[in-house]
Order: sequence, then C-alpha cells, then structure tokens
Amino acid sequence: MDKIIVLDFGSQYSHLICRRIREFSVYAELVPFDVSVEELQKHNPKGIIFSGGPSSVYNLGAPVPENKIYDMNLPLLGICYGHQLIVNKFGGKVKRANKEYGSSLLTIDSNDDLLNGIGESIRAWMSHGDEAEQIPPGFRVIGHTEKAKAAAIASYERSIYGIQFHPEVVHTEQGTEILKNFVLKVCRAKQDWTMEGFIDNAVEKISKIKGNVLCGVSGGIDSTVTALLIHKAIGNRQKCVFVNNGLLRLNEENEIEEMFKNNFHVNFTSVNAAQTFLAKLKGVEDPEKKRMVVGEEFIHVFTEFAEKNGPFKWLAQGTLYPDVIESGVSKGPAAVIKSHHNVGGLPDWLDLEILEPLRDLYKDEVRKIAKILGVPEKLYMRHPFPGPGLAVRIIGEVTPTKLQISKMASKIVEDELIAADLYGKVWQAYAAVGDDKAVGVVGDERKYGNIVMVRVVDSIDAMTADWTRLPHGLLEKISNRITNEIEDVTWVTYAISSKPPATIEPQ
Ligand code: XMP
Repeated sequence: MDKIIVLDFGSQYSHLICRRIREFSVYAELVPFDVSVEELQKHNPKGIIFSGGPSSVYNLGAPVPENKIYDMNLPLLGICYGHQLIVNKFGGKVKRANKEYGSSLLTIDSNDDLLNGIGESIRAWMSHGDEAEQIPPGFRVIGHTEKAKAAAIASYERSIYGIQFHPEVVHTEQGTEILKNFVLKVCRAKQDWTMEGFIDNAVEKISKIKGNVLCGVSGGIDSTVTALLIHKAIGNRQKCVFVNNGLLRLNEENEIEEMFKNNFHVNFTSVNAAQTFLAKLKGVEDPEKKRMVVGEEFIHVFTEFAEKNGPFKWLAQGTLYPDVIESGVSKGPAAVIKSHHNVGGLPDWLDLEILEPLRDLYKDEVRKIAKILGVPEKLYMRHPFPGPGLAVRIIGEVTPTKLQISKMASKIVEDELIAADLYGKVWQAYAAVGDDKAVGVVGDERKYGNIVMVRVVDSIDAMTADWTRLPHGLLEKISNRITNEIEDVTWVTYAISSKPPATIEPQ
C-alpha cells in the first residue's frame, strides 16, 4: 500500500490533512515531527507533508525535523509552519508579518504541477503570523495573496513545495485538488487504500494470533465492528460480552441482543446487571461520582465474566486513530496488534494483551467497514451515546421514574427528528430530566409535574457544539408529544446554550 507521511508540528488541522488524503483512497498517517529517519524509512513513504503549527521558525526551540529527512529525496510539501520551515532550511528568509487569518484571495502565478487545474485564483484559508520574505535559491513563487507575496513556492526539480495556506480545510477552494496534485501527480501514489483491502489485511493478521479473545460490546459502532472483524478471523475463539447497565436508551438492550444474535452469529453473552448498577447509583448526585460508580461496576461485571468464561489471552478494544494520536502513544508501522497491559482500569491479574484492529482508522472509515460487514444502517448512523449512559443525562440522583421519563422522551425526540429527516443532520439529540418541577393543567386539574429538557446539537467532533435551530413546528410537536404521552411531565424546555460554555451532556 502506498503511503504519505504527515509530520505533525502541532496544528489543529494536522489530522485533517490525513483525512482529506484518505478520502481519495491514498493511505496517510500522522507521525510526530521528531520521528527518526530510521522509523520513517520503515513506512517507505511516497512523499512527506509538514503540517502547520503554532511556533515561529526563528524562535529558540522551535520544532524541526531530523536533518536527514531532506536526504531521503522524497517529494515534500510544507503547509503554513511547514512552508516556513522549508523556506528557512533552503536558505530563504522568514519574517514576522501582519497576521493574516481567514479567507484570502490566492492568485495563481504558475499552474504547472502543484496548482494544476486550479484556475487563476481561489479563496484560500490563512492562519499565520509569519511569512516568507525571501524565497530560497532554486525556488519560484507559484501563488501569492495581497499580504503574502510568496504564499506558494516550488522547486520543481527537487519536488519540494511550500504553501502558506491550509488546503486541508473546507474553506480553501479546491484544497483537495491541490493535495491530489501533490499526492497523485508529484508523489505518484496509488489510490489503493480501500476498506475492502483493510478488512482482508486485518483478518489475515488477526487469524495468526493464539489464544482466546474477550471483547466487550456496547452496541456502538466501534466495538461492533471490532467484534465482527475478529469473528471473521477466529470465529468462536472470541467471546463477546454485552453489559446491560440499565442506563441505555429505550429498548436498546433488546435491540442490541437481537442484532448480535440474528445478524452476526458471534459468540455473544448479555449480562443483565441493571439492578446492581441502579443500586450502586442510589443516592449519588455528583456527576463525576456517577461516572466512577458506573466505571467501577462495569469492570466488576467484566472481571467476573472473564473469570467464569476464560482463560482469555486478549482483550479487544474499539480504539480509533484519533484516540491513539490524542493519547500520544506512538506505534510501529501498520501494527494491528499491540501488546500492553492494564488498559481501561482492568485489574493487573487479568494480564490481557490488547487487540485493537481499528487503531489506524477514522470514524467515517469504520462506518464504511460496518456497511461492508452488513451492520444495519440504523446502528452505524446512530448518534454517539456516552459510556455512563443516562446517568449523565439525568440531573441529580438516578431514579426509576427519571430513567423512564428520559428514555421515553428521548425516543420521542429521536423519532420526530427521523420523521423530519433531520436525525442524520444533527450530532446528538435527547431529552434530559432533573428534579425541578413545574405546575401544569391536565384536563381540569392542576398538576405538579417534571420538567424535561430537550437538547439537540450540531457539532463536528464534540469538542465544540451549537444548539440546533429546529423549526418551531417541530419543537411544538416534540413538546406536545412529551407532555401528552409521558404522565409525569408538565413542561418541556429547549436547551439553547452552546459548548462552550455549556457541554453537550448536562452532567
Ligand atoms: P460533553 O458533555 O463533555 O460531551 O460536551 C462530549 C461528548 O462526549 C460524550 N460524553 C461521554 N462519553 N463517557 C463517554 O464515553 C463520558 O463520561 C461522557 N461524557 C460525555 C457526549 O455524549 C458527547 O458526545
């Protein structure tokens, strides 16, 4: 498989560079900027991209790659800080400039290879405080903006390019075309990154492992796809365990059990621990304490299962690529299988090796695999759901009444969004309930009932979120249904705080 390596100099957009490249079927991987050349050579890349970053090249201690990288004679593209690194390295000059943030008009001066087919000008996304004042000998300017005279430079002979703007963000017009020109035409990388290929490769690797695998499944897409891949490789040497903690969405435990039993034929056990979880949560109001209680109880159930159904050598986890990068764990090339202990707070004595077949993948890639493996669309398009479940959607103590209200009201919210064809367009949507009550009139009687808070948010990655401007008619319908169909509810409110300062979940 052909590969492009992106050296990460700390830009918030570094990940996006890889995603954009993978979207046109070339494998790209993000590695720390100080990776050794020996390590890089193991990847056998077709080309290297330097990402942007917050530093200035002339600052003491500014991040630089190993010098020997330049001797690899690979095509090189520097973006923003990466562009300035290239200017500095090859004998040009970088100076502090007027800050340029946002969209600028980039005029194309030469459309030979990198900017081929882009036209005369594009809107390009800038985010920089430094700029190339003097370009290095042997380079030429191929694009400029009003403020940045050398916004795109090239040394065609050496296949080295620098661009001040960010082609990876959607605000740059034809940004993907520019990345395609570099990856496909300059690096001549093949478009051979397919999910079908990934599945074959992963199954082959997993089929070589010895010993049994324990896989915790939550019904979410990551753990489901993990279980299915492993099943394809080693069949019933994998045991999947699903813990019903009583904090799931309405009927979810039955849906998950049915899906696994009817569709997937994996070795599946459902453990009903709802009563124990709810007993442990009794009287607990503090959000973090709730999370701890749920986490500890989950480990308890899991350990008991392992003791009774073992021995197991492996613990399977649905870790994805962004988790790997965020946790700062570096990894060897194409390692589907990684050995270490004690992940997720499991006790020492379990001493399991960790199997993470999805650790190279982004969420949208996992969705594609789910589709190929026959996972019903209903599951892989389902909104994210927090690990501690409704414990963090119920404000204050988790009680059976509040649980029932939250489950029923959330189902109404989801159903109405589906009916309005909006479910797939929003990030998360649910109804929360706390201890506040308000007076209502039901029939001719006054009634003191619960207040339900509906929350629907738009987000890209859950780091920030905005409340969704749902049509008033839809809000009205949701409110009417909740107050009519759920006995204890008299009022419905709509949460209109963005994140920050609020968060997506209320607890
Ligand atoms: P917040 O509420 O922090 O949530 O804006 C961001 C995203 O994370 C989910 N979430 C959790 N997921 N354990 C999880 O596995 C948790 O304790 C937890 N708290 C929040 C939330 O649903 C949203 O997608």
